[in-house]
Amino acid sequence: MSKVHVLDHPLIQHKLSIMRNKETGAKEFRELLEEISMLMVYEVTRDLPTEEVEVETPICKTRTRMLSGKKIAIVPILRAGLGMVDGVTKLIPAARIGHIGLYRDPITLQPVEYYCKLPDDSENRELIVLDPMLATGGSASAAISFIKQRNCKSIRLVNLIAAPEGIKRIQHDHPDVDIFVAALDEKLNEHGYIVPGLGDAGDRLFGTK
Ligand code: PRP
Ligand code: URA
Repeated sequence: MSKVHVLDHPLIQHKLSIMRNKETGAKEFRELLEEISMLMVYEVTRDLPTEEVEVETPICKTRTRMLSGKKIAIVPILRAGLGMVDGVTKLIPAARIGHIGLYRDPITLQPVEYYCKLPDDSENRELIVLDPMLATGGSASAAISFIKQRNCKSIRLVNLIAAPEGIKRIQHDHPDVDIFVAALDEKLNEHGYIVPGLGDAGDRLFGTK
């Protein structure tokens, strides 16, 4: 069963509260999403393997540790996942970036795919899927299914806010995928929006409403 990690560091909680405020404009919303994504990825990657290497400091030779194991690819779900990319790549600059374009049909709430381009060697990488909102879980579940079709085995999902319905959906469809969230909210409303949530993440990020 997927583990759910709630990354509720005080800095993350503070920044997320400003994002939730409906008076916060697109510029500040974008900056905060980038900052929180950077703080989150620090914890998301806590268990990455390291290996001992030799380094010569200005003083002497020493043995110290560096990342080893699989390289990383991040996969934002368009559009809103794009807002998390810069924060993550600030800490993992060598990460490859795949893109999956999905939008949620406003009536059926079913994900509709319009784009998918993943790095060629995705199956040899640790995949980190990014999307600020996990509502019904339909979009994230579909994105993870596309990724699995490419034989990728090691996948983590990172969301800013999740509803219990979305968590259940991922745990059911993809029990091998761990989920990292900044906040676990109460429920979905009748339109499939997270309550209390922050509204439509894509629209707030890109100022389209
Ligand atoms: C939002 C959000 C997720 C999805 C979550 O995207 O960014 O991808 O909804 O809902 P779900 O868990 O019920 O699938 P949206 O469809 O609004 O597209 P956008 O990012 O292009 O605005
Ligand atoms: N997508 C969003 O952007 N916000 C929600 O609350 C639910 C889905």
